[in-house]
Amino acid sequence: MNELEKRIEKLTEELKKALSKATDDETIEAIRIQFLGRKGALAQLMTQLKALPIEEKRVVGPLLNEFKIKAEQSLSDAQEALIARQQKIKLEKLQFFDVTAYKQKALQGHTHIYSQVIQQLEDIFISMGYEIADGPEVETEYYNFEALNIPADHPARDIQDTFWLTNPGWLLRTHTSPVQIHETQKQGAPLAIVSLGRAYRHEALDASHGFMFQQHEGLLVGKDISISNLLATVKAFLQKFFEKEDLDIRVRSGYFPFVEPGLEVDASCPFCTKGCSVCKGTRWIEMLGAGLVHPNVLRSGGIDPEIYSGFAWGGGIERLAMIKYGINDIRLFTSGMVEFLDQF
Ligand code: DAH
Repeated sequence: MNELEKRIEKLTEELKKALSKATDDETIEAIRIQFLGRKGALAQLMTQLKALPIEEKRVVGPLLNEFKIKAEQSLSDAQEALIARQQKIKLEKLQFFDVTAYKQKALQGHTHIYSQVIQQLEDIFISMGYEIADGPEVETEYYNFEALNIPADHPARDIQDTFWLTNPGWLLRTHTSPVQIHETQKQGAPLAIVSLGRAYRHEALDASHGFMFQQHEGLLVGKDISISNLLATVKAFLQKFFEKEDLDIRVRSGYFPFVEPGLEVDASCPFCTKGCSVCKGTRWIEMLGAGLVHPNVLRSGGIDPEIYSGFAWGGGIERLAMIKYGINDIRLFTSGMVEFLDQF
């Protein structure tokens, strides 16, 4: 056995020993470079091979080649064994993973504050015998104004800065009152309806004004309907909504072209008896507009004001929600802020 053959045998032993101690990728790679790299042990032997006489080359050449193939095989075996060992460790860890030790809190959705308040209001009105009516948000000038006794040259039109659509005579309703006309035209008298939905006004935005907001509108038409019926109804509804049996109301004269007389309804503060931050120390809070339906409005709906009379009321839904839940900015309703919505 010549010198080179001995070297090969020794290298094989060394490689085996080195690999048996390797426990990570880096070490295996270092061994590969040491033995098979461009300047590694095998490469050195190859250079020596060149200097040998041809007969010896014939013997040693295949041996070197064999060493190379075996070394590559051992390295890849070692690599595979390492991966298998790492997976086994991982698996063992998983087996001891306590699934009850960490439990992520389930994210739970719920209805929007708008939907909750609308639901509460609808429940109250349905329990009082009202029917829930729906109306279009895109309206004509006729339904939004004229039919409600607000003629083209009427100063009341200035109060309601309107989003006009490009189609002449069409607009986004500025209040839910046009539903009064749709429903009386459809149903005639007697009727008792409540409608809840969006209204739009071209207004500067601040904590109490939005260009889109929600209103509720009530209308009752029958025979011998008087202002006492109106007051009893509004009082009962506010008592139920604020869950306060001794809530009282008071009225002030107000102007709305579709009612005569027109009233502004205030409720006694649901939160205090002496004045607080909600009622700004006055003990009263403005809640809604109301009145006895104007004869012209009954006529628009095809109802004879000589036979029938009625009352109506209407106002903001956000306002009611803000008072009930202590919300101080109307913009929060449509902000999509989860921190806000999660409170309800
Ligand atoms: N439509 C009025 C507004 O947007 C609210 C209103 C006042 C509705 C009096 C009524 C009513 O039905 O009788 O401000």
